[in-house]
Amino acid sequence: MTKEKELSEKRKEFVPSAAYNVTPIIASSASGCKLTGMDGEEYIDFATGIGCLNIGHTHERVVEKVKEQVDKYSHLCWHVTMDETYINLAEKLSEKAIQGPAETLLVNSGAEAVENAIKVTRHYTGNSGIITFENAFHGRTNMALALTSKVDPYKKGFGPFPSEVIRAPYAYCYRCPVNEEYPECDLACLNFFDKLFKEYISEDETGSLIVEPIQGEGGFIVPPDGYLKELEKICNERDIPMIVDEIQSGMGRTGDLFAFEHDDLNPDVVTIGKSLGGGFPLTATVGREEIMESPQKGGLGGTFGGNPVGCVAALEAIEIVEENLDRAQDLGEILTERLNELKESHEIIGDIRGRGLMQAVELVKDREKKTPAPEERDQILAELHSKGLILLGAGTFNNVIRFLPPLTISEEKLKEGLDIFESALK
Ligand SMILES: Cc1ncc(COP(=O)(O)O)c(C=O)c1O
Repeated sequence: MTKEKELSEKRKEFVPSAAYNVTPIIASSASGCKLTGMDGEEYIDFATGIGCLNIGHTHERVVEKVKEQVDKYSHLCWHVTMDETYINLAEKLSEKAIQGPAETLLVNSGAEAVENAIKVTRHYTGNSGIITFENAFHGRTNMALALTSKVDPYKKGFGPFPSEVIRAPYAYCYRCPVNEEYPECDLACLNFFDKLFKEYISEDETGSLIVEPIQGEGGFIVPPDGYLKELEKICNERDIPMIVDEIQSGMGRTGDLFAFEHDDLNPDVVTIGKSLGGGFPLTATVGREEIMESPQKGGLGGTFGGNPVGCVAALEAIEIVEENLDRAQDLGEILTERLNELKESHEIIGDIRGRGLMQAVELVKDREKKTPAPEERDQILAELHSKGLILLGAGTFNNVIRFLPPLTISEEKLKEGLDIFESALK
């Protein structure tokens, strides 16, 4: 029996199958965009731990900082003994994510960053209602699940969820929720907000609106120009804090440090995660000072939040991401061009969308009817993995393949990966 086979057997015995695996691969090492399996097989990684390695696996500068830190101390607990790594990272994120005075709370997962964003905005406004969106994904804790849209597998059987969560349609133009076409529609999907404030919740009882600037798990849905700015206006006119969830779209993925920069937004709270820690579990809730200062002393926190090893990794990762923002743009253009060529020759590709190195293809059985092709999608993913390329699915209809290569990947490796994608499609 190979080592991989032996471990797979043990995995079946000791880990719940609900903690799913999208590939059968068991890794032994990884570097940059390359990953090696237990039995020596090599892969190009376009999944990067679901977008957690925008700077690639084991970036040498992050590894060096982490080793230095582990020699000093690895955990203190911020609430017991403060340290400079947390303070320096809080300063950096507060300055980069929010205009004007801001503060940062460091936590452990994306869901926890979202939970805290809801906590601080509810406390600040004194209002409990939260507006979220169709196709949204905000995590797997109870409040985050209430905000998340997709029922199966995320929510089924796990309720009850917090009430006072109102779901609005998102500008998913390929499958327009109001059956219109952009730009003639004049953003008609936003008309729902008139109804929302009349029939679902009053603006005086709304604590915040939470939105992904590009929906991630929902299928890399990029809203049209003007949509997010209009949402911001809806919030500003009613004094509703706007939370922008940058957990998947942030950290340089789209060619800007944060995707909201493209739309020139000025959010009240920003949640950051995934690639923030350069491969370490560290996330952040960053908000305007008056919002973050609202809760009572002791109202925010957690044992591991702002772990020093994660903080030094994040401080270095931010610098590396900033040095590579142009690459995300340039490589993104190569990716878009190639995907468009493939769309010409492959009927199954119904839509291509994304920005920078956050791009996806939506697969359909029939371009006219846009019938989702989930079985075909899974077949292509399995074929890709067997051919040495790790790619991930997404989408409410399980028919999207998303591309999340590291920003640091060489042009040659990106093209090699795309050649494998083409052969699997064929
Ligand atoms: C936009 C967004 N928010 C929140 C989360 C939850 O993050 P985590 O899995 O780290 O809890 C995710 C994870 O995919 C995400 O994409």
